[in-house]
Amino acid sequence: MARILVVLAHPDLQASRANRALQLALAPLSGPGGPVEWLDLYARYPDYLIDVPAEQARLAAAELIVWAFPLQWYSVPALLKLWIDEVLAFGWAYGPGADALRGKALWLLPTTGGSAASYEPAGHNRHTLDAFLAPWAQTARLCGLRYLPPLALHDAHALDAPALAAHGAQVRDMLARWPSVPAWQRLLDGDCVECAVPAEARPLARTGGGWA
Ligand SMILES: Cc1cc2nc3c(=O)[nH]c(=O)nc-3n(C[C@H](O)[C@H](O)[C@H](O)COP(=O)(O)O)c2cc1C
Repeated sequence: MARILVVLAHPDLQASRANRALQLALAPLSGPGGPVEWLDLYARYPDYLIDVPAEQARLAAAELIVWAFPLQWYSVPALLKLWIDEVLAFGWAYGPGADALRGKALWLLPTTGGSAASYEPAGHNRHTLDAFLAPWAQTARLCGLRYLPPLALHDAHALDAPALAAHGAQVRDMLARWPSVPAWQRLLDGDCVECAVPAEARPLARTGGGWA
């Protein structure tokens, strides 16, 4: 049974080089009986109508959750954001007594058009990639997920096919060893950083016509 859920969120996979190379590289792990469940989010939900109970069941069954995506306007693509909004629900993923994701791990695999140097204070993006990914690190903590260091692929347009394949192979090797990846051991063995949400901070209840 798959222990790793890879959520790929690419709005135009046909035109992709980097994320398609990743898909190819992970194919040996995502076949029948393999450790990876591969979810192509845009193919699964072309109408943006997300089946929340089905997605929560997927997450409940996984030990490691991976988000693979092209960075778009310094964030995740729109459908992944909607998936996060709807699936990581109050009372299920976070909030008093909600522990569906506690102790699992989240690993981000962003690809970027910008170079590594552009994601430095002196570069044209002016901030590190970690700074742009801070909302997801905190989302993980709020849900009791262990946030593994993201593995970014920079300069995605400029890289040649062997470089894209090498990145895919690195990801495949790490996933194939899950959870025995030396770089992750301290994070997986240590205490989970948790940020409890106070009971009074709950979102307003949704009523028939809107928010009340
Ligand atoms: C709408 C849009 C927004 C983008 N925003 C960014 C960005 O904020 N930073 C960046 O480095 N690249 C940005 N890019 C470039 C993509 O990240 C890049 O094309 C992608 O990672 C390449 O992967 P692929 O070959 O799988 O498509 C953007 C691309 C699009 C289409």
